[in-house]
Amino acid sequence: MEVKKICVVGAGNMGHQISLAAALAGYQVTCTDINEEILNRAKNFVETYLPERVAKGKLTEEAAAKAKENLTFTLSLEEACKDVDFVIEAVIEKLDVKRELFKKLDELTPPHAILATNSSYIVSSKIADVTKRPEKVLNMHFFNPALVMKLVEVVKGPHVADETAEVTMEVARKMGKVPVLLQKEIYGFLVNRILAAIKAEAFYLYEIGIADYKDIDTAVELGLGHPMGPFRLMDLTGIDLTYYVEMERYRESRDPAMKPSPTVVEKFVKGEWGRKVGKGFYDYTQEKK
Ligand code: 3HC
Repeated sequence: MEVKKICVVGAGNMGHQISLAAALAGYQVTCTDINEEILNRAKNFVETYLPERVAKGKLTEEAAAKAKENLTFTLSLEEACKDVDFVIEAVIEKLDVKRELFKKLDELTPPHAILATNSSYIVSSKIADVTKRPEKVLNMHFFNPALVMKLVEVVKGPHVADETAEVTMEVARKMGKVPVLLQKEIYGFLVNRILAAIKAEAFYLYEIGIADYKDIDTAVELGLGHPMGPFRLMDLTGIDLTYYVEMERYRESRDPAMKPSPTVVEKFVKGEWGRKVGKGFYDYTQEKK
């Protein structure tokens, strides 16, 4: 199966960069969102990012123009799904929202189209049963910032056809990514499970007053060589995302130890969701200006 046209549903933190990465790789991409403001922000990002890359000498003018031509934005899911071969869903981490969306995607896309979810944690078998093509529904998990991070996790649930996984790995490769294949489903996949363990320990050390979050970040950055400590990274990926996925994990497991930490709950309630709002653990208001 040859993939030519991709639809990305959700133009937020992940969706807009996945869309642009796919457009830069030569795919015809339609990015859709129900929120006009988010969609406009994504358009503006493309308008500034491409000329910046050209000015930096990282992209030719022709390649930038081609990527721009390849990428369209629309508020209409129906329009975005027309004639697509491949869908990447990157909407909010709420299972009921995703299930509802995949039901619509199944109705609106051609029967041959693969329906992938970029969910950070939710396995595709929790979604695939709402469609008439479970063998074509799988996890394709990108990392933030999606234009930079090379890894893509492809997860082969029990319902997923070999061809679906193979085509998805190939799409990731064409986008310049390095895909890894998970042979079985597991909640949180590889990276987020490992990251969850790091975050849990970081919150424990912070909340019992062993060290400030800045010093914990410095320790992880300089002591382990991670590009960002866990708090700085949460600001990048979104504290709202951390809250939603941890609540989902708690609901699933019913284990109180899985509840979001008090610090995450406090930040979530205050609306201090990280970089995208200008404040999380760190302050980005100056940077935004
Ligand atoms: N969007 C697009 N490109 C970006 C970017 C962004 N937000 N931030 C940085 N870049 C690009 C820059 O343009 C630059 O590109 P170039 O080298 O080709 O010119 C390159 O990245 C390096 O940028 P900087 O020199 O400005 O900054 P750093 O060297 O500090 O890199 C970083 C920034 C790439 C974000 C780096 O700090 C990093 O790798 N951080 C860790 C990110 C990470 O761990 N992500 C995974 C999170 S977990 C996840 O996503 C899972 C999900 O389910 C939650």
